Amino acid sequence: MSKTITDTAQFGRVAVVMGGSSAEREVSLDSGRNVLAALKARGVDAHAIDGIPALLDAVRAGHFARVFNILHGGGGENGELQGALQALRIPFTGSGVLGSALSLDKIRAKLVWQALGLPTPRFKALPRGADVHAAAREIGFPLIVKPAWEGSSVGVTRVFKEADLDEAVALAHRYPGDLLMETLIEGGEYTVGVLDRQVLATINIVPTGEYYDYNAKYIAEDTRYICPGLEGEAEREMQALALRAFDALACSGWGRVDIMRDREGRNWLLEVNTAPGMTSHSLVPKAAAAAGIDYETLCWRVLETSFREDA
Ligand SMILES: Nc1ncnc2c1ncn2[C@@H]1O[C@H](COP(=O)(O)OP(=O)(O)O)[C@@H](O)[C@H]1O
Ligand SMILES: [Mg+2]
Repeated sequence: MSKTITDTAQFGRVAVVMGGSSAEREVSLDSGRNVLAALKARGVDAHAIDGIPALLDAVRAGHFARVFNILHGGGGENGELQGALQALRIPFTGSGVLGSALSLDKIRAKLVWQALGLPTPRFKALPRGADVHAAAREIGFPLIVKPAWEGSSVGVTRVFKEADLDEAVALAHRYPGDLLMETLIEGGEYTVGVLDRQVLATINIVPTGEYYDYNAKYIAEDTRYICPGLEGEAEREMQALALRAFDALACSGWGRVDIMRDREGRNWLLEVNTAPGMTSHSLVPKAAAAAGIDYETLCWRVLETSFREDA
């Protein structure tokens, strides 16, 4: 558990690090601006910083006491930022080096879950040059192809027939890292927020298009969000699975677990986001609101996660 802070002075000067150079830069800037405004509204001495190099310069110059990390993808979510800040003894929100690195790599996250017997769609990790057609025949159609390290559905394609495979692979290969090919789960899409050991209610995402792609995530206004997404035992089961998945990857502080639920009611873990979106369309704020936690309070509580048990 993180410490409960009542006096803004205890936070000291806070850097809200956003933007950066990942494919999710624009989303991160949007999240960051919202977080910054909320913290300021609560009287926190918070300042925007764009990207890791600028942050490290400012931290080394002694300008900040702690960091609210809202970089999505890239160095902000893969352990790089976390390692640098840890070495400089500057506390930060969210998961540490290991949790961030494991979660950003969808392939290794799945390997850990598999080893623990947690459900995740059948998959193949494919380095560049691998025989994708042989892999696809093993997985079977329909399947989904994604880059192992990206977010926001960037580079993700659903593939229903072999003729469409090469194009999907070419798209995913535009991004760094190996390629992940996995069984397409047909059913419902869910996501579960975790905030300082509290599992928020599930959200069932119902896009009007085919699936929850970049457009449905950030642009479309007609995607429906149902929270709680399930009822009774099914809701509790998915929440428990989300927390186990989060813990399995050594995550801490806060985050969001993406889960598919097939037509038979089985849950399948997709990924954990260790610095999830905080835009007006974002999911953790919606689930927090359903628990009576308004956006400003949510930002405050996330900032509290920078006070670790062992700090
Ligand atoms: N195995 C799968 N079955 C069905 N849909 C999937 C599967 N994997 C991903 N998707 C769809 O693609 C979206 C993005 O995939 P995800 O693994 O969450 O990566 P990211 O959000 O980091 O881009 C999901 O929100 C979901 O709509
Ligand atoms: Mg996702």
